[in-house]
Formats: sequence, C-alpha cells, structure tokens
Amino acid sequence: MCGIIGYIGELHAGGQTDGKESSEATDGGKFQSVGGIVHRGLKNLEYRGYDSAGVALVGPTSGLTVTKRSGEVDGLTVPDIPDATHGVGHTRWSTHGPPTDANAHPHTDCVGDVAVVHNGIVENHETLKRELAGHEFTSDTDTEVIPHLIEEELTADPSADLLTAVQRVEGKLEGSYAICAVREDEGEIVVARRGSPLVLGRGEDATFVASDVTAFLEHTRDVTYLEDGDVASLSADGVEIFASGEPVEREIETVTWEADAAEKGGYDHYMRKEIHEQPSSLRQTLAGRLDADGGDVNLDVSFPPGFLADLEEIRIVACGTSYYAGRYAAQLFEELAGVRATVEIASEYEFGAGRTPDRTLVVAVTQSGETADTLGAVRRANAAGARTFAVTNTLGSTVTREVDGTAFIRAGPEIGVAATKTFASQVATLAMLAVAVGRDRGALAAADARSVLEDLQGLPGAIQQVLDDEEQVREAAREYGDSEAFFFVGRALGVPVALEGALKLKEISYDHAEGFAAGELKHGPLALVTPETPVLAVLTDGARAAETMNNVTEAQTRGAPALGCVSAGDEYDTLDVAFDVPDVGIVEPLVANVYLQLFAYHVANEKGRPIDKPRNLAKSVTVE
Ligand code: AGP
Repeated sequence: MCGIIGYIGELHAGGQTDGKESSEATDGGKFQSVGGIVHRGLKNLEYRGYDSAGVALVGPTSGLTVTKRSGEVDGLTVPDIPDATHGVGHTRWSTHGPPTDANAHPHTDCVGDVAVVHNGIVENHETLKRELAGHEFTSDTDTEVIPHLIEEELTADPSADLLTAVQRVEGKLEGSYAICAVREDEGEIVVARRGSPLVLGRGEDATFVASDVTAFLEHTRDVTYLEDGDVASLSADGVEIFASGEPVEREIETVTWEADAAEKGGYDHYMRKEIHEQPSSLRQTLAGRLDADGGDVNLDVSFPPGFLADLEEIRIVACGTSYYAGRYAAQLFEELAGVRATVEIASEYEFGAGRTPDRTLVVAVTQSGETADTLGAVRRANAAGARTFAVTNTLGSTVTREVDGTAFIRAGPEIGVAATKTFASQVATLAMLAVAVGRDRGALAAADARSVLEDLQGLPGAIQQVLDDEEQVREAAREYGDSEAFFFVGRALGVPVALEGALKLKEISYDHAEGFAAGELKHGPLALVTPETPVLAVLTDGARAAETMNNVTEAQTRGAPALGCVSAGDEYDTLDVAFDVPDVGIVEPLVANVYLQLFAYHVANEKGRPIDKPRNLAKSVTVE
C-alpha cells in the first residue's frame, strides 16, 4: 500500500550530509536536514510494503528537487539541500504501470515547478490526460495528471497560488485520493483527501502529513485526521483546513498507540487489520472498472480478435487460497460467460490430452505472482501453446512476465501469511473477467451483467456490515473454539468458501478443520461427527442453502453444534448460531467468508497463536 510523508518546520538544523545519513537526530535533538526527516518518515512507512520510493524537497534558493527510484528506501540517496524548508516523500505500491524509476512518485508538471505524491486511484485519468493535450507525460501512472492539472490552473490564472490550484483540481478528480503537492517558490505543502486517509501531525516545532501516524509518531502524538473533501495548507504559519472552500476547524487528538500497534492500524495483528480493510481494498479493486449503466466492465485487458468467441475452456491453475478463489470463479465463468471452466491445483496441472491449445485460456491466480507451483503450471501451459493469463496482486512479479495478459486485483500489500483481503479481491476481479468474457461472447445479456455489477458494487458495504458484527463472532469463537475438530460445508458457491474457511482455521489456530461439499458429509465424514465437532455452514444465496441445511441437520442429529452464515431474511431456528449475511446475490458467499475469517482469527487469538506468522508457513512459497 502506498505511503505518504510530508514535513515543514524547524526540526532540522540545516543539511550537510545526504538524507540517508542525516535521518538520525543529532545530540541537540535536531535532524540535520529536511531530506533526513522525510527519509526517516519513509523508513517508518516501509512496513506497508512498496516497490519504489521518492522525495521532493523545496528551498528558497535551491527550488524544487525531486529524487526517486524503484527499489528500497535504503537505496534512495536524498541529496544535500542545505536551504530546504519542507519536503514530501512517497513509497509506491504499483497499481498503474510497473515499478520503474519513472513511475515512482513524486510526479511533476512539464516545467518541474510542481511535484505531487498521491495514494489511491484517479479513475478518470485517461479522460483527463486527453484533455491535457500538449502536456508532456513521462510515466504510466494515473497520478501524473495531477501536477499537470495544477500547472494548467497556475498558467490560466497567474494570480492563483498552489492552494487555490489544488482546490480547483480537486473538483476534477474522480476516484479516491490522498494528495500532497509542493511548488518551487511557495513555502507550503498543500494536501487533499477523498477516500484515502491523510493525517496531520501537529508538533510544536513542526507539522507533518502522512498516510498513517506511524510515519511521524516519533516526533508528535498530536494529530488531526482530515475528512473526505478537506484541502489543507501546511506552512511556517501553521495549518489551515478548508472544506468546500471554507475554512474549518478539525479536532486535535492524541494518539496513545505505540509504533508497532500503529503499523497495524491499532489492531493486534496484520491479519485482523487486513480482514477489516476489505471494504476499502475491494473498492480499490472495483474502482473505475464497472460500467454499471452499460452492463460491462473495463479491465484493461485484450485478447486476439475472435479468441474469446472460439474459446472451448478456461482452465484455472492456483494453490491454496488462490485455488479456492479459482473454484469460486470457475462457477462464475460457466454461468456468466457460458464457457467450460475447470480448476486445477497448480502442482498437479498438466495441459492434458484432448484439449485444443489455441482454444484454451489458462488463468493463473496468484496473490504474490511468485508461487513456484503456479509458475510451473504457467510454463507447462505456455509450452503446450495455450494462451495464458494472470490474476495477481503484484505488479512486476514473475508471473506477469510469463503470461500473455494480466489483471491486477489491487488489494494492496498483504502482510499476514493467511490470505484474507486478497481472496475477496481475487474473486471480485475474476467475476469482472467473467462478465467481460460473457459480454464479448454474447453469452451474457446487458441486464444480467448489470445485476452482477450491482452485486459487486454492494460487496464493500455488505462486508462492512459483517465487520460491524464482529463481537458475535468473537463470542462464538470463545464458546466453540476448544472443540476437537471443525467441519465447514456448503454447496455450489458455498463449497470454495467452506474449503477456504477450513484452511484459514487450520492455518492459524492449528486445529483440525476440513471443508466439504455439504452433500459429501453423509458419504464418509459423518463418521467423525460428534458433539465435539462443530459444523460451520454457508447457507446463503448461491450456496443452495435449503439442501445444505438438510446436511447440517444430519450432523446436528449426531450431536454436532451448528453455526450458519444465513442470507438476510432466512431463518433456521435449529442453528446454534446464525450469522446474518446481507443480500448481495452472486457474491453473498464471499460475504459469508468474512464471518469465517473472523471466526478463525478469534479462535486462534484465544489460543495465543502467532497469527501473522503461523508455524511452518511462508507468505510466498517459491519452491515446488
Ligand atoms: C493462504 O492463507 C495461504 N497463505 C496460501 O494457501 C496461499 O494462498 C498460497 O500459497 C498461494 O499463494 P499465491 O496466491 O501467492 O500464489
């Protein structure tokens, strides 16, 4: 996830060394340079994950100096700018354009007068870029339109200052953003926020701005959280905040978290933070990609003419949680795109006889883009002559270099070993791909596509409702967490969610947990069912709830407690615990999955497990 830091104030003594060396305070408590303070802020943001970093420093004589590169903050040499008075810095997690030096932030206007760092996505950047004809663009990013828009405003109205220009530009941007802008001959940092967090640090000798408090916590604990639509100016005279052009007061709060907790957003574990991030990470996944009126999606992917129409099979290859996302998606491809879709565990995959390479699309689903088993499957598919495609979270990852096309899930970095928010974003991205393929093949009517897109649009809000219900899950985890084993069941779209629910629990709590197609219970596993083996069932739309409930009852008859994720409005009086799932049609089981994530988390937490780094497991498995 991208990170922002900005500083203006009197904490620095004047630079004599490069920013890297001067990021330590001297004996007098002063940092040697602005660059050093900004560099230190970037170091503090490293935990968020990033692939590039950069800074912009401003001084009355030196003007505006921008330094940026792909790679680690430690490799970024911030130059000596003795007269620098303020600066901004950024760690980038690529969403538009690969992690290159040119795509790193800050981005500048044509003449290098304005520099901008940005978190979020400017959804209408392509339209804005067309309107900026004549401007010279040097990156693939959506961000770069912002400094050029500011330049337009400053050129059109020479009396305007940076604050006015940002206020005008802000009205033209669609999507989510947190922006920090500086200008060569102005002694201020101008910031704006909509949909992406920004917090001000209000020290005695300095003002900071950052994407989260961790960046400046060592300097001040007094903070102001900006609200959506706020634009603020940070200068030697202090802070001015505006909403709809009018000055506003915002509260100053004191942060009591320590840095470690702050990195986790106040949560005890990254996993819980990432579970709670799902509404916002999903918004980012969907941003600018849904054409709700037209009943279509824009995933920015293309296939050779006629390829999709002639398609015989989509074969998904993946491992672990990504495999379960693939199992969910395969059902969507068959239903929405009218094409045979199969899923294979990547380490088991062979192209197989009887298939036609040029009529097969092999889709590798991988959060990291580096999983050796999945890469091996892609290589076997390429060798067989099939067209290959990746759905991944990681720009520049190995898989993106080995396939014919890629769709990014844009979930932001996931630090907990257990995949949570990336599962939701994988399924959402694959659902969009299914709509795109279905529309292209003429298999999906616009009205049906619109209904799927509505379901997807409702997903972040529905998941938020589940998150608001966390206490009920915590209580259930306390009551049933010490059982001998756990069985997870569902039908149809409920099966991959049951499998994923069981994987999550076993992975982080070390309890025995198994997922089944509910109908299979009676074909064997029922022998294991006792009062000590709770059954957790997906009883939502898309999971053939009534039939699944019959199988749950079979387990209950043998004494098993039953916990169900139930579609809003449905009632199953015999359940021991019912979790309400808001109505979002085809993605309802995905919402139920959030209950199962929270259940796994709280069971493991009660047992004091090392949730973010479970024993024997790695986030990215790079061996076959
Ligand atoms: C899930 O919680 C796991 N950490 C694991 O199953 C993971 O999904 C699998 O290793 C695949 O990783 P990938 O998505 O990065 O390819």
